[in-house]
Amino acid sequence: MKARGKFISLEGIDGCGKTTLREQLHDYLKDKFEILILREPGGTEVSEKIRDMLLDVRNVGIKSRTEAFLYAASRSQLVEEMILPALQEGKMVIADRFMDSTIAYQGYGRGLDIEFLMKLNELCTGGLKPDLTLLLDIDPEEGQRRRNKDVPDRLEKEGLEFQSRVRIGYLALQRAEPDRIKLLNGGDSIIELRGQALQHMSVLL
Ligand SMILES: Nc1ncnc2c1ncn2[C@@H]1O[C@H](COP(=O)(O)OP(=O)(O)O)[C@@H](O)[C@H]1O
Ligand SMILES: [Mg+2]
Repeated sequence: MKARGKFISLEGIDGCGKTTLREQLHDYLKDKFEILILREPGGTEVSEKIRDMLLDVRNVGIKSRTEAFLYAASRSQLVEEMILPALQEGKMVIADRFMDSTIAYQGYGRGLDIEFLMKLNELCTGGLKPDLTLLLDIDPEEGQRRRNKDVPDRLEKEGLEFQSRVRIGYLALQRAEPDRIKLLNGGDSIIELRGQALQHMSVLL
């Protein structure tokens, strides 16, 4: 039987560089490992439909708790349909966002109860946690500058104060779980960040 694969998540506020790093890591690792790259919300047919609902700027009436449940539903499907089978087959899984986003965005950002969200995370993941989480930390103003060329989605439309609260949430999570969550400076160059990410990953592999 193959050894269980490793599960790595990328986290951080909007514009910190998660998707860029995900693509860098994929390019670098795809010939060396069997690797599955996913994004949240999304990554399965039904999860992508939930993603459309969550990010559609016309959905102005979504309440914070509904938002949390929609993310949880998307994640539940992703874990069962994609992540667990891939890990069982020994594949490496890299997820652009996972459960820490719920605590940072719906907890620190929206103000929902953290205990409630931790329970929700436990329920929708079945207790699965990433082996390693890379947190890209960046000043929210810099994050916004980087994103200026894109059309913002429903969550990205939230202002700098919201992004600041989310950032504080991420940093609190990192302090609480420093063995799992590694802090990277999102202001570093892409190549520098790729090197640091690979170094953290090499400890796992
Ligand atoms: N380390 C970096 N240095 C400079 N610019 C970056 C860096 N990482 C990403 N960018 C740029 O910043 C923008 C947002 O990056 P992206 O990866 O989409 O962030 P996220 O997925 O976290 O929202 C993109 O235009 C990207 O090219
Ligand atoms: Mg992205």
